[in-house]
Amino acid sequence: MKLMVTWLALVVQVLSLENGLMRTPPMGWLAWERYRCNVNCEEDPDNCVSEDLFIEMADRLVEDGWIDLGYNHINIDDCWMACERDENGILVADPKRFPKGIKYLADYVHSRGLKLGIYGNMGNKTCMGYPGTTLDKVTLDAQTFANWTVDMLKLDGCFSSPEDRAQGYPAMAKALNATGRPIAYSCSWPAYDGGLPPEVNYTLLKDICNLWRNYDDIEDSWQSVLSIVDWFTKHQDMLQPVAGPGHWNDPDMLLIGNYGLSFEQAKAQMALWTIFAAPLFMSTDLRTISAQNMDILQNKLMIMINQDPLGIQGHKILKTKDNIEVFVRPLSKKARALVFFSRRTDMPYRFKTTLRSLSFTESPYLALDVFSGELVGIINLDSEFTVIINPSGVIMWYLTVP
Ligand code: GLA
Repeated sequence: MKLMVTWLALVVQVLSLENGLMRTPPMGWLAWERYRCNVNCEEDPDNCVSEDLFIEMADRLVEDGWIDLGYNHINIDDCWMACERDENGILVADPKRFPKGIKYLADYVHSRGLKLGIYGNMGNKTCMGYPGTTLDKVTLDAQTFANWTVDMLKLDGCFSSPEDRAQGYPAMAKALNATGRPIAYSCSWPAYDGGLPPEVNYTLLKDICNLWRNYDDIEDSWQSVLSIVDWFTKHQDMLQPVAGPGHWNDPDMLLIGNYGLSFEQAKAQMALWTIFAAPLFMSTDLRTISAQNMDILQNKLMIMINQDPLGIQGHKILKTKDNIEVFVRPLSKKARALVFFSRRTDMPYRFKTTLRSLSFTESPYLALDVFSGELVGIINLDSEFTVIINPSGVIMWYLTVP
């Protein structure tokens, strides 16, 4: 019996990712959405995937206040590799674009107090055709990343079969653990298997990954944000319970600062990602970002809500016939975050309601407007209030027990 228990404990230890990382959703910067696979450093040196790009963004994260707010990851995505592994089968960075190599970049990033994330792909090739991590390369690649003192791995799933993924993702969790270096593990696995049970086993994912991409890639458009919000809310009853400290659903990067979103839409993405307890990875040019977009991304109260220690994912509680949606997220100390979201395209809409009709059972609450920081007032269960929500915009409140 005793033997059996020890054996079982060992199995659990080996299978699960006991890295203690990411007790709150990770924050930082990830190259992909904004910089894609731009490898044209001859013609576009400022915007190509290169060591200079990551060093410049790392400097911005540190010097423009991002790191102090929690944006402490700088993450490389696809297209960092040379086209072939070296003669020992080890992955190498493209020698032209990363002449000093990944270890140098990791040292630089660490010297600035940041963490470095890297990208790999469970399968024959990365999505853009660079060397993939086939099953026989899992241990070697995990060790290579650990040798380079990388802090996080996003493991994509292009050019793989469901069987490869079912073996490869847990094998990488085990291999990362075995390196002895704490390396946070972001799994794209569910996104390649439709994001839903029975194909996706969220109980297993929770044990082996710190975060996972459930659904399609975000693109620089409002339509893309809406399709992600729709998918996450459609499946919220299944997704909501699997998120928590150390293991998060990932609706993909923030678009704020890029080209596709209006000011209202940018605020809406930030508010909804915060309700979803989502990782906050920016993917924008921090060298040229506007003050207005910085304000959205650097909103302290918003970040505090996103990073709430309970780590409970919020959900949609109401959709009215007038196309207003209400989302709520439970927070520590009985606080709540409320988002009133308009899907309308006409004019600012006056939405009148009470906390009771939003399924609240306790009151009073003290309400703060998250974007303006202003006090809204004390709200009782039956006090009727009106919020004025701009088209494709949000009003967000932070409710605390006075
Ligand atoms: C997939 C991923 C994206 C990005 C690209 C890189 O599409 O979902 O997030 O990493 O591959 O090629």
